[in-house]
Amino acid sequence: MINKETIQSIIETARIEEVVGEFVVLKKRGVNLLGLCPFHTEKTPSFTVSASKGIYKCFGCGKAGNSVNFLMEHEHLTYPEALRYLAKKYFIEIEEEHETPEQLLAQSEKESLLHVTAFAQTFFTKTLLESDEGKAIGLSYFRERGFDDKTIEKFQLGYSPEQWDGLTKSAIENGYKLEYLVTTGLTISKDERNYDRFRSRVMFPIHNLTGRVIGFGGRTLSTDKTKPKYVNSPESEIYHKSNVLYGLSFAKTAIIAHDNCCLVEGYTDVISLHMSGIENVVASSGTSLTVDQIKLIRRYTPNITILYDGDIAGIKASFRGIDMILEEGMNVKIVLFPDGEDPDSYARKHRPAEVRDFIQDNAVDFIAFKTNLLVGETANDPIKKANLIKEIVGTISLIPDAIIRSVFTRECSATMKIPEQTLINELNKLRRKKSLQKSSAVAEEQEIPEPTEYIAEQQLVTDDTSTESQEKELLRFLLNYGSQMIEMDTLDEDGEKLKVNITLAFFILEELSRDKMSFQNEVYQSVLEEYKELSKKDITPDMQYFVNHTDPVKSAAVIELLFNPYELSDNWHLKHKINVTKEDEKLKESAISYVYGLKLRKVDKMISENMDEIKKATSEEEQIKLQQKHKSLMEAKKIFAEKLTRTMTR
Ligand code: CTP
Ligand code: MN
Repeated sequence: MINKETIQSIIETARIEEVVGEFVVLKKRGVNLLGLCPFHTEKTPSFTVSASKGIYKCFGCGKAGNSVNFLMEHEHLTYPEALRYLAKKYFIEIEEEHETPEQLLAQSEKESLLHVTAFAQTFFTKTLLESDEGKAIGLSYFRERGFDDKTIEKFQLGYSPEQWDGLTKSAIENGYKLEYLVTTGLTISKDERNYDRFRSRVMFPIHNLTGRVIGFGGRTLSTDKTKPKYVNSPESEIYHKSNVLYGLSFAKTAIIAHDNCCLVEGYTDVISLHMSGIENVVASSGTSLTVDQIKLIRRYTPNITILYDGDIAGIKASFRGIDMILEEGMNVKIVLFPDGEDPDSYARKHRPAEVRDFIQDNAVDFIAFKTNLLVGETANDPIKKANLIKEIVGTISLIPDAIIRSVFTRECSATMKIPEQTLINELNKLRRKKSLQKSSAVAEEQEIPEPTEYIAEQQLVTDDTSTESQEKELLRFLLNYGSQMIEMDTLDEDGEKLKVNITLAFFILEELSRDKMSFQNEVYQSVLEEYKELSKKDITPDMQYFVNHTDPVKSAAVIELLFNPYELSDNWHLKHKINVTKEDEKLKESAISYVYGLKLRKVDKMISENMDEIKKATSEEEQIKLQQKHKSLMEAKKIFAEKLTRTMTR
């Protein structure tokens, strides 16, 4: 059984529009996405996907559900199969286990913790708004910062009294267990004494995605520099810091609507920007940005705008964050605030429209950001300039999408006045190094179609001489796995055996051109042509590139490739779970089986056409020529078939 945490994280990570988007073409319509229903035939789209709700509903046939349901319904998967599908798609490691009584208890313990934090939030808010101490100290502080009643209410701000056990005492009186107060970190138990973690602080509750309070940040009001400015809840069963973004529950709708998420540092930055009408904003809250946090944002938008204050130490620390965002395949812009200002102070000093304009006008990509920042340092220093270029190329090399990489390479070449080819060479070196390091790790995540299945499919359609279905499969394989590296044996100039790493794309294209193969299907052929052209420029386009192609014919054909009738058959995943020992071998085998499956099919077709010619031949001379052709075709067939069976039976 897949454990609850895993299921939770699968469901939280899956983006309905991405899941459905693999099977249905969705267009943005207001806050929703719209497409043609895959469950019934229709000409006008009534299939609606709500990214914020994580659900789909067809207003034509009434089918509705979430990502998991969609996969169960559309791909005929069982519940665990659908979860496994999503886990693979989002690189989530599945933790399996049997549910023990302890685990059942743990589930209810989590719920108990959430009850305690909810109680604490009410306590802090009441203290802020109703107690004399809270009003005199906490509320007046918030007022001074310009937080109005509505904002205080929305963010459920509060105040913890000076008393050493104010919250603990009240919670116990209200029937909450000390144990839970301690595990949530609200109470510190030491030497038989129980006292509050948060004392004389204004309180910022931290919410999970569904808006429940999971922890707190408490800011001191004292100017005593020896006291930490913030005290935060410790990690607990309900509060995993690396997986939480402050403000996300308030921001998600706005993030989707703007297709952009602003990232700031502090609680107060989030709140002040909200007051300026900028609601698509979250904070990493003091910790450095994590991959989990980035993935959380990706559920709503691929675009992040980082808002930094002008402090140089903070900026340099931010470089890592930028790299991580790009590595996740997302887009990042950076806004630098004037020296001494942070988003909070800027928002308080300027009108909402000015804040909005400032962000819009000053958002730059990472190349401009880094060059602007270091331009003074590098102006007359070639070594520093070279280092800067290397750093930028290093960042570009992290971007998974080849097209985007090449766009930035061009920009870098123009800004830094460096020949593009020099940058491309450096980039390729880095990419190769990286893919060598990664190839084993990545290969394990990939799903590689079993060659035997492919052959079975092929035999089903032998009465048709068309090669289209083979072409379709090969093209799909190429688009899915083209950038994967495989190891090949070859001979060097001296006839010595040599192992080389090449991309699958290179292998397949070479194989096709060796036998001068072209696709019978014109659209597939045009896709293949474009693929070859890009490959020559060292770009390996993926499925997405063609799915989003401006030529609707190409995009439709490739979108259609995504609907593979047997790819997700019931036992398909299970089959691939087993036997993942030699992924590299399997990729190679699959490639060979696709290429030679097509070649075999093609030669069969040529043989049968040639037979017809022989029947129709009038002169003996022509007969002989055609017979010879028949013989060489049969020979080719034998070679292809042998190659194929050798691959199959290995
Ligand atoms: N932070 C923290 N512990 C500290 C200092 C900071 O956890 N000792 C975290 C908090 O989440 C804080 C964020 O880092 O919100 C940014 O820090 P800072 O800019 O110093 O705080 P602000 O929230 O901006 O507070 P203020 O504007 O009141 O100074
Ligand atoms: Mn601040």
